[in-house]
Amino acid sequence: MAKEYVIFSGTANPDLAAAIAADLGMFPGACAIERFPDGETSVQLLESVRRKEVFLVQPLSPPVNDHLVELLALADACRRAAAARITAVVPYLGYARSDKRHGRREPISGRMVVDVLEAVGIDHVVTMDLHAPQIEGFFHIPVDSLTAVPTLCNILHEKLPPGVVVVAPDAGALRMATDYAHRLKGTVAVLHKRRESGTGTQVTHLVGDVADKPCLIVDDMISTGGTLASGIEALLRAGARPELTIAATHGLLLPGTRLKLEHEAVKKVLITDTVAGAPKDWARLQVVSIAPVIAGALKRLLEHRSLGDLY
Ligand code: R5P
Repeated sequence: MAKEYVIFSGTANPDLAAAIAADLGMFPGACAIERFPDGETSVQLLESVRRKEVFLVQPLSPPVNDHLVELLALADACRRAAAARITAVVPYLGYARSDKRHGRREPISGRMVVDVLEAVGIDHVVTMDLHAPQIEGFFHIPVDSLTAVPTLCNILHEKLPPGVVVVAPDAGALRMATDYAHRLKGTVAVLHKRRESGTGTQVTHLVGDVADKPCLIVDDMISTGGTLASGIEALLRAGARPELTIAATHGLLLPGTRLKLEHEAVKKVLITDTVAGAPKDWARLQVVSIAPVIAGALKRLLEHRSLGDLY
């Protein structure tokens, strides 16, 4: 394994960065990240990175723009300090939902974010459960897109009742739902979702048989919980057993989400720690650490090995 490497954390998820570093037998590198009085971001690396391989751990979780600028500033600092190679470990890639234009005179902000990551000299990106796999195509640099599905399925195997139906809450989640169903030996159903606003969605159709069946609703992320709330109502209307489990990789859990998901039919909500700040006092919520998977990926990258045997 290359000896000369260092892991720095932005402020988005220092616990995850520390857990990744611990898995690799080290501590995160020292750096100072502060805000100037006017809101600008100040970054300083407090140790040398000259000719070293650098990993910058920073999910683009809320406040997304601040975390993005921190990551850019860290990368710029590394490049100017002669790092040999900069890998951004971005377990949750913010703005990824903005991957197309819905109307005239709109940006494709997901692509814009990728462009600036590349512009500051990032050589490689490690990410997890991208909102849509084709977002990889926005990058010119190598991207290792990991998945939390095997990790979450290891837990779900023990918790789910037999005969579970894995439900995609919208067409975009169908591929992920199929992966879950394959691993859990379940069947698949899909809801057709119409987004009415940033927070409101409505389910118009259900494809699949959920009558009297326990369901597992899966998604890449839980942001406001609106998608899941309308999915829960649609499944219960269609006669699903009031024994629902929810699994998602990225738990943004914005204010109000918990209230939406505290439906008596929801028995368990399972997320990973890609995003920091999950409430500790929510009995139905379980947070699974994804640090071993990311650390395993970094170890293989350092050893110039394939990630094919990661899971
Ligand atoms: C959308 O296509 C995503 O996969 C999620 O379903 C959605 O972004 C979740 O957001 P919210 O929790 O606000 O409905």
